Amino acid sequence: MSENMAGLKRTNYCGELGLNDAGKEVVVCGWAQRQRDLGQLIFIDLRDRTGIVQLAFCESLNKEVFDKAFSVRSEFVLCAKGIVRERSSKNLQIKTGEIEIEVSDLRILSKSETPPFEIVTDSNVNEELRLKYRYLDLRRPDVQDKIIQRHKIVKIARDYFDGNGFIEIETPILIKSTPEGARDYLVPSRVFPGNFFALPQSPQLYKQISMISGFDKYFQVAKCFRDEDLRAQRQPEFTQLDMEMSFVDCEDVMGVAEGFLKKVYREILNIELTTPFLRMPYNEAMERFGSDKPDLRFGLELVDLTDSLKNTEFKVFSGAIANGGSVRAINVKNAASKVSRKEIDKLTEWIKAYGAKGLAWTKLNEDGSSSSSYEKFLSENECKAIRNTVGAQNGDVIFMVADSKNKVVFDSLGALRCELAERLDLIDKSKPNFLWVVDFPMFEYDEEEGRFVAMHHPFTHPKDEDIEKIEKDPAAVRAKAYDIVLNGNEIGGGSIRINSSELQEKMFKALGFTEESAREKFGFLVDAFKFGAPPHGGLAFGLDRLVMLMLDCSSIRDVIAFPKVATSAELMSQAPGAVDKKQLDELKLKISE
Ligand code: AMO
Ligand code: AMP
Repeated sequence: MSENMAGLKRTNYCGELGLNDAGKEVVVCGWAQRQRDLGQLIFIDLRDRTGIVQLAFCESLNKEVFDKAFSVRSEFVLCAKGIVRERSSKNLQIKTGEIEIEVSDLRILSKSETPPFEIVTDSNVNEELRLKYRYLDLRRPDVQDKIIQRHKIVKIARDYFDGNGFIEIETPILIKSTPEGARDYLVPSRVFPGNFFALPQSPQLYKQISMISGFDKYFQVAKCFRDEDLRAQRQPEFTQLDMEMSFVDCEDVMGVAEGFLKKVYREILNIELTTPFLRMPYNEAMERFGSDKPDLRFGLELVDLTDSLKNTEFKVFSGAIANGGSVRAINVKNAASKVSRKEIDKLTEWIKAYGAKGLAWTKLNEDGSSSSSYEKFLSENECKAIRNTVGAQNGDVIFMVADSKNKVVFDSLGALRCELAERLDLIDKSKPNFLWVVDFPMFEYDEEEGRFVAMHHPFTHPKDEDIEKIEKDPAAVRAKAYDIVLNGNEIGGGSIRINSSELQEKMFKALGFTEESAREKFGFLVDAFKFGAPPHGGLAFGLDRLVMLMLDCSSIRDVIAFPKVATSAELMSQAPGAVDKKQLDELKLKISE
């Protein structure tokens, strides 16, 4: 039978006691980290979220309490009253190591089975087991600390946005399905059988509507839901720090976002960020780094070889160019001795995941000799032109990708660039690197759908000078959109929005919506634009990603209390699960085989 706390009230947290408290009577509560039995003496390390304090039990002082302490096992929940004493042998490794509590009253509030893993910092336990027993995992100090830090970051966000005149507005979780981007999570309606709510992928439309309602500055810590195939650093449900402002341009929104990052880095990490951050046009980011979220902490820039190779006999190169593509290269300085032939073969396989059909390479050894996968197919002049254009010298390795689709060349070389930097340890990890990517294309062509889709979303305002190209030359239209990138990760994005019904309708048309389907899905927004919509724009940070990077975690799951795994399942509660036939009947749903 467990005991209760009758007559006792906690006076202190374990980790906060120190020499100053010596002589005081205190009551502490927590979990038994471990019990050590030294014969006439028993020590119990008691843990709560602030740290550990040592409880001391002496058989000769209090036999009854001593016997109780003898029965305590790991993770029992205890309440102890006693006097704080200076220790004779101090442990300066822990915060409270100069004192212990000489216990006069001990209550065992709850017992525990032997946990499946030890509750300590950095224990090497596989993630599946950790997530199944997440309540135990979250007792580990390092795991718990990340969740507490996350709380502090959110608190700073609320204070910052409140201090700048933003109003937090809760937007609905049950909304209309308007898939444009990721897949929606659907919720069947009982009252309207056959109809569905969707969970919001973001509060986008509601925050725009709140601008039309005159709130002027909106903010929300918003849960978002996207039924995507889970790639790294994505979760099916995640949190945005979401904001929107009226009567602003791109620079105003970016300035507010920078102000927040400055504050949160100062208060959490004691780092002074220099603002404004660099702004880089999308085209430049792609050309130089092969990515719209380039990591600028290292070089390895892409070099375009298309001009020198368009007339080569070697069809792998000239063919790609003739079909509208390109040949580009990365020159890796002083890597010849570090990258073996075997590794190059492995990279050739690895890069196929990014769509590349091959990886061409030349290794220029220190001694002047060289080996190459393609030079035998080229003229001497072409080989020289490549080496010169990329600036290669003895000791360097050149990697090249040719493809008829520039996207494949960029994606694969962009990824190779990051992979090589990681493997060769070229990344300066001493400070965070922030960057705005701006001037995004408004549209990108979706091969699968056979139409143009919005690169950000259909509510993004095109650049004024490009509006006339929407019909004639959609690929050339740039958007008033911006992404914020931290160390090569997209941690947020936003735009100035369309605020006229005519332009919005034009946009839907360009995206291939019929008038009826646009009306059906977004009619309320277009209608709202007819009643005085101020110019507005905003941005959303991916909170989970930001916290992950700030706390130097390798996985987004480390900063989410109850995360989901790659299959979108939650291992502790075993969600998703089957439901009763009665529930399905109420919803008029049948599961097809
Ligand atoms: P966007 O779709 O770019 O913009 O999302 C904003 C930021 O949210 C984060 N993010 C994710 N984080 C974890 N798991 C996911 N599955 C996931 N998807 C996105 C990213 C991203 O930069 N309404 C617009 C914002 C706006 O225009 O104001 C929006 O949702 O860090
Ligand atoms: P192949 O004639 O297809 O055997 O190609 C000869 C060499 O060209 C290969 O060893 C690769 O190094 C290179 N190569 C082939 N396809 C590509 C490509 N798409 N991009 C870059 N290099 C390629």
